[in-house]
Amino acid sequence: MSDLSNWKKRVYCGEPDMSYHGREVILMGWVDAIRDHGNLLFIHLRDRSGIIQVVFDPARSQKCYRMAEELREEYVISVMGTVAIREEGTQNPNIKTGDIEVFALKMEILSKARTLPFKITEKAMVLGEEITSSPENVDEDLRLRYRFLDIRRPSIQDIFMMRHRIIKCIREYMDEMNFIEVETPVLTKSTPEGARDYLVPSRIHKGRFYALPQSPQLFKQILMIGGLDRYYQIVKCFRDEDLRPNRQPEFTQFDMEASFIDEEFIYELIEELICRCFKLGGIELPRPFPRLSYDEAMEKYGTDRPDLRFDMTFEEVTASLKDTGYTIFRNIIDAGGTVKGICVRGKAQELSKNILQNEYAMKIVPSFGGKGMTWMKVINGELQSNITQFFSEKERTELIQTFDARDGDVIMMIADISRENVNRVLGLLRLHVAERFGLIPGDKYSPVWVNEFPLFELKDGEISSQHHPFTMPDRTDFDPSNKEELLSLKSRAYDIVINGEEIGGGSIRINSMEIQKRIFDALGLTTDEIEMKFGFFLNALQYGAPPHGGLALGLDRMISMILGTKSIREVIAFPKNRSAICPLTGAPSQVDTEQLEELGITIEAQREKEATKIKEKKRAKPRRKRITIKEIRHVAKLARLSITEEEAKRYQKDLNSILDYVETLNELDTSHIEPMSHVIEIKNVWRDDIPIIKEDADNLLLNAPKRDGRYYRVPKIIEG
Ligand code: AMO
Repeated sequence: MSDLSNWKKRVYCGEPDMSYHGREVILMGWVDAIRDHGNLLFIHLRDRSGIIQVVFDPARSQKCYRMAEELREEYVISVMGTVAIREEGTQNPNIKTGDIEVFALKMEILSKARTLPFKITEKAMVLGEEITSSPENVDEDLRLRYRFLDIRRPSIQDIFMMRHRIIKCIREYMDEMNFIEVETPVLTKSTPEGARDYLVPSRIHKGRFYALPQSPQLFKQILMIGGLDRYYQIVKCFRDEDLRPNRQPEFTQFDMEASFIDEEFIYELIEELICRCFKLGGIELPRPFPRLSYDEAMEKYGTDRPDLRFDMTFEEVTASLKDTGYTIFRNIIDAGGTVKGICVRGKAQELSKNILQNEYAMKIVPSFGGKGMTWMKVINGELQSNITQFFSEKERTELIQTFDARDGDVIMMIADISRENVNRVLGLLRLHVAERFGLIPGDKYSPVWVNEFPLFELKDGEISSQHHPFTMPDRTDFDPSNKEELLSLKSRAYDIVINGEEIGGGSIRINSMEIQKRIFDALGLTTDEIEMKFGFFLNALQYGAPPHGGLALGLDRMISMILGTKSIREVIAFPKNRSAICPLTGAPSQVDTEQLEELGITIEAQREKEATKIKEKKRAKPRRKRITIKEIRHVAKLARLSITEEEAKRYQKDLNSILDYVETLNELDTSHIEPMSHVIEIKNVWRDDIPIIKEDADNLLLNAPKRDGRYYRVPKIIEG
């Protein structure tokens, strides 16, 4: 083994400092940048630990210098050299090793790299310049396709080092708290968490499927029944649901469950854990975390994920306006409706009548599902708007008092028969206004526990669980057939929300078979369905289930928030893109027919469906009109072409066959095909918007055969 490939002697690029002066080191890494100073070659060598400057000086090693001339960005090399302190004035304060450099004596190219699809080097970091190659400047799909290159960026590596430290911190803390990590199966049975399952066909049991877990919910409860007492897991969950920036089909949870505990145990345990994780990112969270009931959250913020970084809570004015002369409000109030509003402090100047009326009342609020918005400004202690004359003196005073409105404030009010709609629309309006005026402090973190959720909700007129069906209700003497009573039940569930984002949730569970069965009854599941879906679990519940509860945190969401990344995709090594595709591997992909046959699967149903779709499309679309000889003759005339009868027939046939082909393209179902940024190769073209400089034009047309003043005569292309 040559010295250069002696891994044991390798020194990380970020390690050497002034104390290494005069020492011989072996460095291994990627060529980050190359600068040629004529008689000296400088390269920045990069590995996970940092960047170091290596100097190739022909006076020290002619051979090494010659080899270095071959180097290109991202070649992997091994260099042996001597560490020297940089001369005064040549230090680089932007890198850790900026006080030293290494004079190369030997070098070996370990691997070459092709021309890169995008720049990897983060020169800004090294040179202290404006960022030019930040990940944000590169198309995300391209980054994900070449994720191995993307991950070479120091800023991306930092993310994964931090993710590692956060997970390590969680494991250490849970160990301290006497929890043990247990792995639960990935090939399993469906767990109801509200999304669709990813199914895995079984080869041995043809026609049967495993489901990938939406969460380890039932297994962790069974572990409690098994007496493990305190369980946790860093675990992958799979949910086939509509994608959003904070959702991935495959994501990681920190999942936990404990026995003989109550809500307070969970609050204390999780607050400490979250605080420790945020602290790693330099963020101190205020403790204890405030708590809001679901009803309070909806009434004050219009959402169960309230962003508490700013105030602007809702005030209700229904009672004050019950006799108002403003008929829009009166009619709604008379019909049992609600009027509520928010007060936007000090924005009367910016929120002009035009913005309030034409933007908010006419467009923004209707886009949120509101029927309209009423606004008033406070000017010189008086309410002003186009409708204040319909409100009595008393009503106006009460409005000012209720909203604690002062000069320069703007009151925005929403009225609706549906109280839920008033809250929902105001919630969206509150966020819109806050974002518009930058009222959300970027460096503030506001955690809050939301609890006392309704146990059930109505979905398409049917009773369904708000959380999941294993959550303990606040009382257990309910009648499973009484819809109204069911909808009035509260659950012992809790969500942890930070800055308006749901980071985690959990509940105290049902540990009685009898109550669990009544919940399933309430959900309208038949005995057979219950047996088929949850028989194994109900069986376990009958053998001594301790009182227990737990929670799961969305780890990707939490890490993304700690690191301030734009989306959770940034903190996942190989995420799916916005269309649930993995650009690196191209998954999901088609499989061989043999593989499907082995599994006993045919995709006939799908094929048939597609064929029917195409047929329907064909039927629905009138057939294209055929091109006639008359049309061919007309076009020929316009183009001053004289064509024979025979030629006209040939053109008619060719054109019709081209158009037939184009029509078949319209019938292709391209909905599952990943969009491409370019379908044809990019090449240089003349810009039409910039006139060609005359000298250049003259130069370009030097070879033109004949010149006629400012024109060039060219041979005829088409003979008339
Ligand atoms: P829940 O469904 O609320 O609870 O999930 C817990 C947390 O997981 C995160 N999360 C997601 N993150 C990324 N992509 C997704 N598609 C996604 N879906 C959810 C959220 C969420 O708060 N078994 C229960 C927990 C329990 O009761 O103990 C559960 O899974 O941050």
